[in-house]
Amino acid sequence: MDFNKIFQHNEAWIARRLSVDKEYFNHLSEGQNPQVLYIGCSDSRVTTEELLGAEPGEVFVHRNIANMVISIDLNVMSVITYAVEHLQVNQIIVCGHYDCGGVKSAMEAKDLGLLNPWLRNIRDVYRIHGDELNTIEDSHKRYNRLVELNVQEQCINLIKVAVVQKAYKERGLKVHGWVFDVHTGRIIDLKINFVKILREIMEIYDLGDNFN
Ligand code: CO
Repeated sequence: MDFNKIFQHNEAWIARRLSVDKEYFNHLSEGQNPQVLYIGCSDSRVTTEELLGAEPGEVFVHRNIANMVISIDLNVMSVITYAVEHLQVNQIIVCGHYDCGGVKSAMEAKDLGLLNPWLRNIRDVYRIHGDELNTIEDSHKRYNRLVELNVQEQCINLIKVAVVQKAYKERGLKVHGWVFDVHTGRIIDLKINFVKILREIMEIYDLGDNFN
């Protein structure tokens, strides 16, 4: 990557924006009011704004290896809290992708050092869904299914968060689970039944009479 080109591109982008709207940066600097929180993989192929067709200011973004929502990860929890409590987003998207290196690594019997505790969370998803996954003989299909199940589990992890439960109760916040297919460019909505999951896990995870 030519770093000089980045700055040339930046100047060209500024000129292009201003040619359409002279006040563009004045408006941009007034503050943000995104409606959506997007949690995706750090994979360089899964670019949030391009994927969503979103403009600057429209999406609050968090990306990490394999789009994980881990309750003791201060980073993702801070992003969720800020987006839900302060920015008042009403939609959260968890977007995984096929051929995810993080998910693939978690399927291999290998010591990956510092990455072990992170990937352990994906191995836990495999364990929870082992019965289903082990019936899939084709290893690539099994891998893709784990990508989908991982998205589903991260949506469930989101539902376990107190501020998300509160926002659901107070203003009907929704959680969406998607997978980006790197082979076709298509976004697949896993149509995760948010309300059904809430009801199934409320006995254990309700943090304040949120699901009634
Ligand atoms: Co990935």
